[in-house]
Amino acid sequence: MRALLCKEYGPPSKLVVAEVPDPVAGDRQVVLRVLAAGVNFPDVLIIQNKYQFKPPLPFSPGGECAGIVESVGAKVQHLGPGDRVIAFTGHGAFAEKVACDARTVVPMPEELDFVTAASFVMTYGTSYHALKDRAALQPGETLLVLGASGGVGLAAIELGKALGARVIAAASTTDKLMVCRQHGADELLNYESEDLEQRIKELTGDKGADVIYDPVGGRYTEAALRASAWRGRHLVIGFASGEIPAIPANLTLLKGCAVLGVFWGDFAKREPGGLMSDLRELFAMLREGKLRPRIAPPYRLEEGAEAITELMERRVSGKLVITPGPGPGPGPGRGPLPGPQKEAQP
Ligand SMILES: NC(=O)c1ccc[n+]([C@@H]2O[C@H](COP(=O)([O-])OP(=O)(O)OC[C@H]3O[C@@H](n4cnc5c(N)ncnc54)[C@H](OP(=O)(O)O)[C@@H]3O)[C@@H](O)[C@H]2O)c1
Repeated sequence: MRALLCKEYGPPSKLVVAEVPDPVAGDRQVVLRVLAAGVNFPDVLIIQNKYQFKPPLPFSPGGECAGIVESVGAKVQHLGPGDRVIAFTGHGAFAEKVACDARTVVPMPEELDFVTAASFVMTYGTSYHALKDRAALQPGETLLVLGASGGVGLAAIELGKALGARVIAAASTTDKLMVCRQHGADELLNYESEDLEQRIKELTGDKGADVIYDPVGGRYTEAALRASAWRGRHLVIGFASGEIPAIPANLTLLKGCAVLGVFWGDFAKREPGGLMSDLRELFAMLREGKLRPRIAPPYRLEEGAEAITELMERRVSGKLVITPGPGPGPGPGRGPLPGPQKEAQP
């Protein structure tokens, strides 16, 4: 089979497409034919040896995918060849086939297309777990989303609106902010050209934001925390800026606020019941048209390095997907769920 391989750590330009042996399912594994794989920020980190998980070289990046089960290990009971599934592989999905732990594989809703399925669960799952389970976001509260046009950011805007919040989207360019508006943001804030703390205070009549969704880190974190409401909740999602910020502890005292860590991957492993319940609710919202994932036209395996570069260089709004099979790949439109919006990236 063909795979996008990281043979040595470095930028995406070091990745190569190569022929490798087909994977074989271990006792508790399944082998999937990958029809679409979502590109996520961890792919940027893992190929540079900057991620918390460090697979041995050579390996394929690609942490989530959708596809069809080809074979199952001797101890796998709940899946069989031909099943349409979504898998959280951690790595390995930027390949025509992947072997993964059967516990990380969930059935794909009938009406979903493979491209949407491959790009939906990690971003919407993370944002839902953060807003609902960790921050207990309430209707009428104000939600500030940083990096709001990115993968998890756009999901947080849509889910914030679905949960009844007033959403302030913060991003670095006017084009990205327009995308946030299309996905439901009530207020827009350019954190490159405006003073984040002051603007939030203006937009909230000095009260501050009740919940802050922070996948960016760096200098924005302290400014956002300074604009937290009394009893606010600051969600630590990630550090796309490349800088893990230090938070002055006195700010949490002064605001009576909470700083809450979010780790969706471990939530999925440690609390499988919670994950399944979240997924049921998310798929229902998708079916009802309350969520509208923004997905660019799929990249082929040979274009995988290009897709990761786009994400790394901050040029993406929404999600990118790689379709490793030959041809243009399985597109949307199989059923009543809204398919990807084929918008050009700004
Ligand atoms: N905690 C969890 O369970 C969990 C789950 C999934 C993802 N994450 C983390 O969440 C973060 C965002 O993931 P994502 O998939 O949404 O990524 P993404 O689509 O690339 O979005 C990240 C956003 O961060 C902003 N940004 C600011 N400085 C940046 C820089 N130097 N390089 C790249 N982006 C920069 C960009 O928006 P502007 O240009 O508008 O600033 C970009 O839209 C990552 O750190 C990822 O590891 C965490």
